[in-house]
Amino acid sequence: MSKYAYLEAGRYARGWHIVLFSRELEPGEVKRFHYFDREFVIWRGESGEAFVVDAYCPHLGAHLASDGGRIRGNAIACPFHGWVFEGSGECIEIPYAKQIPPRARQALKGWPVLERNGFIAIWYCPEDSEPVDYLPAIDDWGPGKWGDWQFQRSRIRAQPCDVIENIVDIAHFPHVHGGNVHAFENRFGDFTVTQISRVKRDPQAGMITPPGLPFDLVDARNQGAGMEADAWGDATYHGPSIMYYYTESRSPDISFKSWWVNYHTPVNDSEVDLCSAVIMSSLTDAALPEEFTQLYPAVAHAAFGQDVLIWQDKVYREDPILCDGDGPINKLRRWYERFYLPA
Ligand code: FES
Ligand SMILES: [Fe+2]
Repeated sequence: MSKYAYLEAGRYARGWHIVLFSRELEPGEVKRFHYFDREFVIWRGESGEAFVVDAYCPHLGAHLASDGGRIRGNAIACPFHGWVFEGSGECIEIPYAKQIPPRARQALKGWPVLERNGFIAIWYCPEDSEPVDYLPAIDDWGPGKWGDWQFQRSRIRAQPCDVIENIVDIAHFPHVHGGNVHAFENRFGDFTVTQISRVKRDPQAGMITPPGLPFDLVDARNQGAGMEADAWGDATYHGPSIMYYYTESRSPDISFKSWWVNYHTPVNDSEVDLCSAVIMSSLTDAALPEEFTQLYPAVAHAAFGQDVLIWQDKVYREDPILCDGDGPINKLRRWYERFYLPA
């Protein structure tokens, strides 16, 4: 028996988890995805709204996206015998029956969906608790102002608890990311944990360089104004799996602001989908140089990749030996545990 509920098999954190970016789901499109060791179907109905239900039809078990999916207005029809389900999971039509069996009405599970800031999240809770609206909207988000998310997503062998600990792990900066930490503070809230940090880049440090990078990380960081500035920023986990990071950089050549969203969504007990996503916007009237808008997100993804390299190979220490220079690892663990206890 583990001392943390989040280490128990088959348990996943209660809260919002990102499943797709908005632009990955066209109007009228149906897709399938597999998270929380469970199969789901997602579609965008006529109204433009996205809906998510369990994948398998309560009639005879067909996968609702088997033939690519059949949209009926805002509802979806099963490809096998044509039963029609709303996003709530309610069966609203059986084309060849006089009556819908009462049991069929609520047999399919529909999942709460939140589409915000250009991503689509579902509320996961084993006890079907009411969703809490804690994910902040990004100010004037929209492709016109910010450009759309540039993201990199990969599936790796890792545990969500390893990923989230990064937010308090002050001691890994110089070794993994090549930076000297000048200021570092964590603040804990009910649904949030924030890291306020100021890090001075140190290219000489023995940092990790993810393989397969199309550029030299140190060079890339120093290319283009703004990247040579010290990194400062505010990173906040909103709930158990979605981290927002805001940063601004001003220089005579390029002044810009950017949001990074890093998220992890558990696939099963041993794998997660990890994603690093970036949007940016000029702080002046001048548009950002095209080259820079390509390079900057690539550097952000590479920084995330530095952590990924560690996570995918590590084991989890339930009782770690910590020293006085470590961040508040155990405090973070107790905070994180709340997403696994009954609501
Ligand atoms: S299996 Fe879905 S309608 Fe029969
Ligand atoms: Fe890190």
